[in-house]
Amino acid sequence: MAEKSKILIIGGTGYIGKFIVQASTFVGHPTFILVREATLYNPAPHKSDLIQNFRNSGVNFILGDLYDHESLVKAIKQVNVVISTVGYAQLNDQDKIVAAIKKAGNVKRFFPSEFGNDVDRVHAVEPAKTTFAQKAQFRRLIEAAGVPFTYVSSNFFAAIFVRTLAQLDATAPPRDKVVILGDGNVKAVYNREEDIAIYTIKAADDPRTLNKILYIRPPANTISMNDLVSLWEKKIGKDLEKIYVPEDQVVKNIQGRSLNILTSLEFHCRKTHNSQVNV
Ligand SMILES: NC(=O)c1ccc[n+]([C@@H]2O[C@H](COP(=O)([O-])OP(=O)(O)OC[C@H]3O[C@@H](n4cnc5c(N)ncnc54)[C@H](OP(=O)(O)O)[C@@H]3O)[C@@H](O)[C@H]2O)c1
Repeated sequence: MAEKSKILIIGGTGYIGKFIVQASTFVGHPTFILVREATLYNPAPHKSDLIQNFRNSGVNFILGDLYDHESLVKAIKQVNVVISTVGYAQLNDQDKIVAAIKKAGNVKRFFPSEFGNDVDRVHAVEPAKTTFAQKAQFRRLIEAAGVPFTYVSSNFFAAIFVRTLAQLDATAPPRDKVVILGDGNVKAVYNREEDIAIYTIKAADDPRTLNKILYIRPPANTISMNDLVSLWEKKIGKDLEKIYVPEDQVVKNIQGRSLNILTSLEFHCRKTHNSQVNV
């Protein structure tokens, strides 16, 4: 059996990153994370517990920073695959990873921080539009640099959106009334974070995903908001009051909420999911 690639995750202590680190060790890859010193020794339980879990799973820590070129090159030289899961604030600075990959010269696959829509096939409103454009621009940079890549289009993270039925600012699913954007009939895709992570890791050594977009779009996870609400109603044995917000009103609300990224992302996905390409 072919040896498993060594995988470096940059952003492994972040929301989706931690699932990918766990999937990588679970599948048996030698797993490395680039971690800042302040995070490695952060006493806050949500970080220190995570670091301890990583230690227990055999994760290798490499001290470094996205903004420290030498540390990036040193980390990248130890692996064959690099996965970036940096957050919104660092999306535009991932060119530093590409520069380090070029310098190191040994990487056979790079996954940029995507994990959402296929950003070359979107028609979004702001502020999501800008984020998608940044991700698309970064794709062009990777391709121009000749770095072998896989782009993961994972759609909605289920634990964020399904858990609250996509209600803004909610921490639990609604029990009385639910706000539905548009007519509620357009389907969206929701994937468990654990599944996104496993598919990502499985793609790392799969030649079929080289220089391709990996679409994670299982038919059973593709569901309209009306159907999602109806499943929830069945589960709790109660009908919810449904407040439908027409499309033009949603756009006005996004602008009124001084560029609310969650609403614009949600709205975008509900509007455009059906026009995306399945592989
Ligand atoms: N599809 C969806 O529903 C959905 C939802 C959310 C996000 N996303 C996408 O998922 C991707 C990751 O987002 P996220 O929310 O998981 O990110 P996040 O939780 O904000 O995590 C960011 C990670 O980057 C690390 N980091 C920040 N600055 C760094 C630096 N200078 N050097 C090295 N590491 C640094 C952070 O480390 P520390 O722990 O040290 O801070 C953390 O590990 C993004 O592309 C985002 O668009 C998709």
